[in-house]
Amino acid sequence: MKKITVSAPGKLMLLGEHAVVHNHHCLVTAVNKRMKLSLEENAKSSLIVQANEVGIDHYEKNIQTVGKGDIPKQVAFIEQAFNLFIETYKVEKGVKITTHPEFSSKFGFGSSSAVTVCVLKALTEFHSINIDNRTLFDLAYKVVLKVQGKGSGFDIAAAVYGGTLLFYTAGKIIEPILSDPLPLVVGYSGIKADTVTLIKKVSALSNQYSDVVESTYESIDKLVMQAKDALIKNDWSTFGQLMNMNQGYLELLGVSTGKLSSLIYAAREAGAIGAKLSGAGGGDCMIAIGSVQTLKNINTAITNAGGEVIPVEASAPGVTIE
Ligand code: PMV
Repeated sequence: MKKITVSAPGKLMLLGEHAVVHNHHCLVTAVNKRMKLSLEENAKSSLIVQANEVGIDHYEKNIQTVGKGDIPKQVAFIEQAFNLFIETYKVEKGVKITTHPEFSSKFGFGSSSAVTVCVLKALTEFHSINIDNRTLFDLAYKVVLKVQGKGSGFDIAAAVYGGTLLFYTAGKIIEPILSDPLPLVVGYSGIKADTVTLIKKVSALSNQYSDVVESTYESIDKLVMQAKDALIKNDWSTFGQLMNMNQGYLELLGVSTGKLSSLIYAAREAGAIGAKLSGAGGGDCMIAIGSVQTLKNINTAITNAGGEVIPVEASAPGVTIE
């Protein structure tokens, strides 16, 4: 029986969150914690999903009704990706999809986008269809917009292309940035954040203070472009300072929390060159960079401040057939 296994990396936002939703740049890196997914033939004309990590032992939907009716949120990205695929490529074969993530969805590493990219890549492989990265990005981004309505697509780009990327809203720019390995520490705040709620929170602020928020986005964009140059030169000192300044703007946008700030300050006091929240804010993870000599102290400081250090390496490869 034909069985395809694919994997796609999770991601971490380095700089530029929120501004990137509103026509600006960000820097994102793919991490070596991957979503793995297998896809096999299913004799019935249905989509079967097994995703034990989110409590789905057996979900089944007839091909005729895929994408319609009630869709549990745990399978929404998978079902909509399958639906878009069969509509786009006019194929109607039943499949069974099983997910095996290497990371918990609570970290905010982009499990939904990684799973979407995996489903589309596995389906094209299964049906012997060639798909280039741009087409894969465009299809997966459509799925994300269908399911969650909002988002820049940066997480999809990381899952498809891997590496570290300069990204512009909706993938208008997706540019690989080469650098030495980022001396990165990641601390989970213990709180799961909801990205769409935070995007709406920032939009509400923008409705009230449009000039201030717009100029904040522009300032963030400037930080991102300088950080890109610093990254290419492996100039961690400049990169770290820009991270700290970016955190200041995220405070202004109202998306940091006391817990994130305490992890960020703990990291800085332990010698981090730069520390900021990563992603939508409201919880999830903070990131820090530091010299090799300080990394251990930064880890300890984050743990002592109540964070959970998650060991990751940046610039992981993009979607791969295993
Ligand atoms: O919550 P995360 O890690 O998926 O990051 C969201 C980043 C935003 O800029 C707020 C949204 C987006 O899609 O770019």
